[in-house]
Amino acid sequence: MISILFLAADPADASRLRLGEEFREIQEKLKLARLREHFKLELPQLSVRPADISQALLDVQPQIVHFSGHGASLGALCFENPAGKIHLVQPGALAALFEQFANQVNCVLLNACYSETQAKAIAEHIEYVIGMNQAVDDKAAIAFAIGFYQALGAGRTIEESYKLGCVQIRLQGIAEHLTPILLKGKRASVSPVLTSSIAQDKSINVLQLPPRQYREFIGRQIQLDDIENALNDTLGRWIIGIDGIGGIGKTALAREITERLLAKKSFEKVVWEQSHRDITMTKSSRGLTYDGVLDAISYQLEAFDLLQIKGKEKEARVKNLLRKYKTLVVLDNLETAQDAQNAIVNRLASILSFSKALLTSRHRFSGDVFSVHLTGLVEEDAIDLIHREAKNKNVSQVENADTNELRQLVISSSGSPLALKLVVGQLGHLPLKIVLEQLSLIHIPEDGAEEDDYVSFYKGIFMPSWKLLPENSQSLLVSMANFPAGIGGTFESLKEISGLSNSILIRSIDELWRLSLLEVEKSLSLNNIRYYLHVLTQNFILSDIVRA
Ligand SMILES: Nc1ncnc2c1ncn2[C@@H]1O[C@H](COP(=O)(O)OP(=O)(O)OP(=O)(O)O)[C@@H](O)[C@H]1O
Ligand SMILES: [Mg+2]
Repeated sequence: MISILFLAADPADASRLRLGEEFREIQEKLKLARLREHFKLELPQLSVRPADISQALLDVQPQIVHFSGHGASLGALCFENPAGKIHLVQPGALAALFEQFANQVNCVLLNACYSETQAKAIAEHIEYVIGMNQAVDDKAAIAFAIGFYQALGAGRTIEESYKLGCVQIRLQGIAEHLTPILLKGKRASVSPVLTSSIAQDKSINVLQLPPRQYREFIGRQIQLDDIENALNDTLGRWIIGIDGIGGIGKTALAREITERLLAKKSFEKVVWEQSHRDITMTKSSRGLTYDGVLDAISYQLEAFDLLQIKGKEKEARVKNLLRKYKTLVVLDNLETAQDAQNAIVNRLASILSFSKALLTSRHRFSGDVFSVHLTGLVEEDAIDLIHREAKNKNVSQVENADTNELRQLVISSSGSPLALKLVVGQLGHLPLKIVLEQLSLIHIPEDGAEEDDYVSFYKGIFMPSWKLLPENSQSLLVSMANFPAGIGGTFESLKEISGLSNSILIRSIDELWRLSLLEVEKSLSLNNIRYYLHVLTQNFILSDIVRA
């Protein structure tokens, strides 16, 4: 959730501004936004005095701070004094305040005249700051806000939203489109080690895709080709299923294909819905239903009115939507669905028209599904993954290992990408011989193994990694199991939930990341870093550590 704090000051001894209107416009744009659930516009703080700002930043903990008001030509911003008259705040003072919130605030928007000087000072600490390089007319300020929040709400980045704000000024026929300026500040050093190694994903901007858990997608050429051919088949193969045991790479494969097809524009729209049973200690929710699938399609194709209707009519209207737009509907983790997998498949088949569905499940698909069954990576690709993972995490031992030893690692990990990643992490701490010895004690699941079988296989791999962790990192991992798997939390929320200090938290995150017990992703929309666990890691923590 991205929280936006709107601050306004309109001292009685300055000319009147239409601040109420600006707030209403922002509110309305966000209410209509596709991603409205991800934004929270806090109650506006009007007539702010200097002391109110720090209080509001502490109370509300916003990611975006919007100041609307007057600026003086020498760069001071006009706040109010107790009598409601002008109280000037100098750039240095405001910058010092924001320095204290550098890890929390991503963007500061100063919608006030001559605020460039302030913006520059604040940008020393905050990643994105928008200011005005001269006097700005009231109407232009509102137009900018409209364009900016509309774009943000549609999942655009801060930079794109800034540009769309400027375009909006022009669209209103106001010749002030050059006035707002965007400053990219020095990166708040939340976690220097991690930020540099985050996958840079600039290719797409479809927000409903889940975080990408891999830096480079490795191997699986046959499956990629098969599925791509099936998805391009205009005469049949409407539903394509990927099945295989946990951690084998179903989600990664589905995500990779989706990205490739988006890049080739093979589909007009993508809907990505993840079924999950929330198994955290705090919540228990049930998986996806067919009705939920219809809702996800309506919502993600922005047919919000369909969310209100039910039954056959809804089904018919969703069918129309899928006829109107050539859509790829991806449903991930169908084994957790509440309705039977087969029932969902059959009903989906009747509404797809020329759209297609790509499904993943730990349970085998049957019937009219073109199914691809995933097993471990082939040896060559598995060894490639080991090398790249080792390079990424600075595990020097792998470079010097001989091919036979690496082959042995692949066999003992059954070629599972998740298992291989964990094993490489262990090699950062332990000699290869020991790691191989530990692996030799684990029973390798056969293809088509029952859930219990491979869960105990992963337990055998997770446990040695767990034992390598210092106490603080163990406790961080346990607290992180409270977040939904694959979604996780931000640095601030990790801090809150773990109670660790900044420096210890940074070190613990790094330790967990090196062992592949935690993944990091920078969100596409905001410069917001999220840390999350794989669902199997969460399972392990909850069932073998917390409840053991
Ligand atoms: N081909 C690949 N190249 C690089 N990384 C991969 C590949 N396949 C899987 N991975 C990585 O291995 C881990 C496990 O893969 P993934 O989450 O896709 O498995 P899954 O089959 O969807 O598991 P689950 O059934 O638990 O959802 C992830 O971190 C993923 O990014
Ligand atoms: Mg998955």
